[in-house]
Amino acid sequence: MSKILAFTNQKGGVGKTTSAANVGAGLARAGQRVLLVDLDPQANLTKGLGLLDAEHNVYGALLGEYKLKAYPLRENLALVAGSPALSGFEKVKGDELDREFLLKDLLEPVRERCDYILLDCPPALGLVTLNAYTCAHALYVPLEAQMYAADGLEKVLELVSRVQRRLNPDLSVGGVFFTRHDSRKVLRRETAEELRVLHPGLVMSSFIRESIALGEAPHLGKDIFSYAPQSAGAADYQALVAEILNR
Ligand SMILES: Nc1ncnc2c1ncn2[C@@H]1O[C@H](COP(=O)(O)OP(=O)(O)OP(=O)(O)O)[C@@H](O)[C@H]1O
Ligand SMILES: [Mg+2]
Repeated sequence: MSKILAFTNQKGGVGKTTSAANVGAGLARAGQRVLLVDLDPQANLTKGLGLLDAEHNVYGALLGEYKLKAYPLRENLALVAGSPALSGFEKVKGDELDREFLLKDLLEPVRERCDYILLDCPPALGLVTLNAYTCAHALYVPLEAQMYAADGLEKVLELVSRVQRRLNPDLSVGGVFFTRHDSRKVLRRETAEELRVLHPGLVMSSFIRESIALGEAPHLGKDIFSYAPQSAGAADYQALVAEILNR
């Protein structure tokens, strides 16, 4: 039965999608059967992994227009495509009684066919993200080590405790990790240390360095392990995958 992990932070551009893609690819290379689900109307995960012509996406499946369709990408790795139409999800489904449980119901039948389901959340804490938190077992929060990074984390943690109480008692925070890390910048080093003091159990030991290859790979529709296996980005995501597997 699969474990559902969500990459989330309501702050934009912190590395959610990059992390979902590369942790997914890394887990698949480690022999885990992985399903990625693109929950962002920007559909960056879908485009960044080279799926440009998906006929069926998660939005249509959530609305019950067709069955959930997973597109195979490579061995052990498949993707449920995102869609710009997801931005209308809250408007269309916001009044339904079971509105927070639609994704959970949709994923239930595929859970026994994979080891991990990875959800790439949009940069907002709206109904789509609430659906992700309602079915997830663990949240992973990428943070850029900079001023106000902790604000993003506090908002996520607040929502987590509400969801735990009302919608999903099984939800936990798997970990917080730093992305686009530049050890030369003092401010980032200090933020990282501050957060380690505030939330000792949550901050993971792996962090992802700023790396040009990580920015380039999605433009070629590739994950970092196939695009630049010798890069710092590949090494960093490999370490993060190992840490996630051991949690
Ligand atoms: N470690 C890194 N080194 C260099 N570039 C990176 C790194 N991580 C992410 N990027 C680049 O930074 C940009 C934002 O990353 P990404 O799309 O993963 O963030 P996000 O949190 O998913 O953003 P959004 O909130 O818009 O969904 C992308 O162009 C990505 O390629
Ligand atoms: Mg994203």
